[in-house]
Parts: sequence; C-alpha cells; structure tokens
Amino acid sequence: METYGCQMNKAESESILMSLTASGWTEGESESDADLVILNTCSVRETAEERIRGRLGHFRHAKKSRAFTLVLTGCMAERLKERIIDEHPEVDVVVGTFNKKDLLGAVHEARAGHTRVVSALKSPYKFAESHSASGIKAFVPIMHGCDNWCTYCVVPSVRGPEVSRPPDEILAEIEVLEGRGVREATLLGQNVNSYRCLTAEGLVSFPDLLRKVAERTRSIRWLRFLTSHPKDLSESLLEVMAGTPVLCRHVHLPLQSGSTRVLGLMNRGYNAEQYLGLVRRVRAALSGVSITTDILIGFPGESEDDFAQTLDLMREARFDDAFTYHYNPREGTRAFSMPGAIAGDVKRKRLDKVIETQRVIGQGRAAERIGNEIDVLVEGVSKKDPGELLARTEWDAMVVFSGHGSRVGDFQRVRLVSISGSTFRAESL
Ligand code: SAM
Ligand code: SF4
Ligand code: F3S
Repeated sequence: METYGCQMNKAESESILMSLTASGWTEGESESDADLVILNTCSVRETAEERIRGRLGHFRHAKKSRAFTLVLTGCMAERLKERIIDEHPEVDVVVGTFNKKDLLGAVHEARAGHTRVVSALKSPYKFAESHSASGIKAFVPIMHGCDNWCTYCVVPSVRGPEVSRPPDEILAEIEVLEGRGVREATLLGQNVNSYRCLTAEGLVSFPDLLRKVAERTRSIRWLRFLTSHPKDLSESLLEVMAGTPVLCRHVHLPLQSGSTRVLGLMNRGYNAEQYLGLVRRVRAALSGVSITTDILIGFPGESEDDFAQTLDLMREARFDDAFTYHYNPREGTRAFSMPGAIAGDVKRKRLDKVIETQRVIGQGRAAERIGNEIDVLVEGVSKKDPGELLARTEWDAMVVFSGHGSRVGDFQRVRLVSISGSTFRAESL
C-alpha cells in the first residue's frame, strides 16, 4: 500500500488495510513479492499526479517479469477514472473516492476473472465501519468532502459535497482506539468547523462533538483536529478548546494569501483583516497556542503588492509553522481559466521568499519556548543513538531527549533547553 496526499488518505489506507487483513491478506515487507499493490492517490497538485504516473511506469515494467494485481484508488483515480484504464494497461482496478468500501470486492473480481474493473460510480458517500489504527496515534475521519469551492482546488470535485459522520460512529471508533491504548487522536475533515449532524437528540455542531469525544477519552490524552477553515471558526469552538484540557492548543488555520483582493479571487470567504482578527482572538482565548498555516503563492493575477501583503500578514500573525505551495493550475477548477498566470521563475522567487520569511518567524517563536516545561508524547527511539528518545510537542514539533526505550508511547514532562533546525533538545523532569 502506497499512500499519497493528506491525512484523510492515510486514514483511509489504514481502513483498507484493515479490511484486507480481515479477509486473509497480509501486509508484505516490500513491493517486489506483493500479489496486490494499492496506490492511494492524490490530485491536489500536478506534482502529486506526476509522482504517481512515475510509479505506474515502474509497475508496468515490473509486470513484465511477474504477475500481480495493481489497484489505483483515491482522488486521482476519482478524477481520471476510465482515462486511467485507457492510458495505463498496467492498472487492473480503479476505485474512486466514493467507492472505497467496494475495493475488496473489485479486487477479488479482477483476480478471479482477470478482467480490468472500474469502480468509480458516484453514490452517496458512506464512511467505512472503522478507520481505527493501532499504535500511539490515530486519525478519525469525522467528515468527508468539501462545499467551499476555493477556485484553485480539486477537492470538492473529487471528494463531493460535505457529509458529517454520525457522532455515535465517531464515539464508537474512539472507544476502539482507547481499547488499543492510542494516546493521540486527530479528528479529520476538510473543514471540521462546518461539522453538523442531525441526531435524535438534535443538531450536533463541531464544538458539541468535541465535548462528547472529550468526555469519553481516558488513554487518549491529546485530541487534535484538522483542518479549520478561518471563515467558520466560531467563538464557541474557542470556548470549548479553552475549557477542555484534552484538546491540544494547536490550530491549523490556512491563510492562503494575505491580500484581500486575492482571497476574493480564491473564494475563501474572509479578508485579510478578518483573518488577523481571528488570529488575535485565538491567541487571547488560548494562552500558549501554536498556530500553523498553509500559504499558496502565485495565484493568477497576484501582483508584487499582493505578495508583499502576504509577507506582511505572516510577520503580523507570527505563525509557528507554514506549509507553503506555489499555485498549480488544475483542470476543472475556476482558477484554471483565470487570466494573469504568474511565470514559473516569479513563483519560485516568491516561494523562496515565503519560506525564508517563515523560517525566521518560526525560529523566533521556537526560541521563545526555550525554558518552557511541557509534556511531550514519546514516539520512538533514535536510530543513531538508542539512548535518545524522539517525541512530539502539543504543537507537533520534534523533541529529542535522553531516556529509556520503555517510555515509548508515554507522556513525559520535559524542559526545552535548545533548538537546532526545527528540533528541540530537552531534559526530562
Ligand atoms: N481544506 C483545507 C483548507 O481549506 O485549507 C486544505 C486542503 S488542501 C488539500 C491543502 C492545501 O493544498 C491547501 O491549503 C492549499 O494551500 C493547497 N492547494 C490546494 N490546491 C492547490 C493548487 N491548485 N495548487 C497548489 N496548492 C494547492
Ligand atoms: Fe480545497 Fe478550499 Fe475545500 Fe480546503 S476548503 S479542501 S482548499 S476547496
Ligand atoms: Fe489530495 Fe485528495 Fe487529500 S486531492 S490532498 S488526497 S483530499
């Protein structure tokens, strides 16, 4: 199983692996002797699709010397459907995002009849029974799809309209994870703030859901969620976060652009001032909170002035970290036909500038945390030195400190003593 793209895909891959295991398959050590290879794909940028095409070329070659079943699922499978079957004879089965529950059946059909199968018929999205993973951390999808139609983004067309998963299913999954000793769970959706589910007891909003999940948690000590859309982050969410210790004080709040004009063209539903106001409210409500973001530069028509406004907003908001992308035209999106394409070298220069600006801001913020005494979750032992433990902070930064491997999976109180690159060194308390 190879997984590309976002956490949603990672969670769905876990779920596919679980259903395959339940029906007798075992996960192989390497692809070279696998009877079944599944690529769970992403379409968000052309580069993601190019990597997958590269892998398909590799598997086409591998099929000359041995037989195996090759399955393409996920967002690229949904976007291209039959075109994959036409252009890629090495692919046996194509399963779209709406039909992942049918994957097993389609695989067995293809293996039995040696036919090539496309299972990408649109139907209402149904959540898999369980996405539960084992280990220390788990992702729990609470929503599927997106209704926001940002003009640059393929997600609404490949994932369909927003569907909220019933709270009972989510709580049942949390219980399974608790039983397995999971310590950190991340609730997933493209815009978790617009979660709403009508139940017999009434309408459950995202803050209501967080309260319900928090009440159930025992072994899970850290509860996170991704992604918050700035236009929908409510005061009641901040209240719940402030009053619920299990909720990590970390908000991922994608900005995209600091120019109100570009935000309008992107159809983001907020302006630069509103975004900054939100950052101030988040910081006032949650002391010590970390805020991370996504920044998309080079949107059609982005002027030097628009770009300068993005840099200014970054300096004002002082993000702890930022995922930075240059705009990639995607067929079928509204921005695809917008005038004012930005030349590749200009995009590269702007991206470099954004990365450098964030590096300085991020270092400044990290330096402010030196001396802090915090809890970290121990995730593993250093490969270089077995006496060193690797851990994560509540805001998802890497921490290294001396300790015994038996601590893996536990929380540990540490003092941050220094930073190198983006990794903190700490001493245990
Ligand atoms: N739903 C989340 C939100 O609204 O921020 C993000 C989901 S999207 C999969 C993750 C990030 O990919 C976006 O925040 C955006 O910065 C980036 N992205 C989306 N479409 C893109 C495109 N056409 N070119 C480059 N980056 C893109
Ligand atoms: Fe894409 Fe916008 Fe939806 Fe995020 S909110 S998935 S960027 S359309
Ligand atoms: Fe990619 Fe689909 Fe996620 S396009 S980013 S895998 S929702």
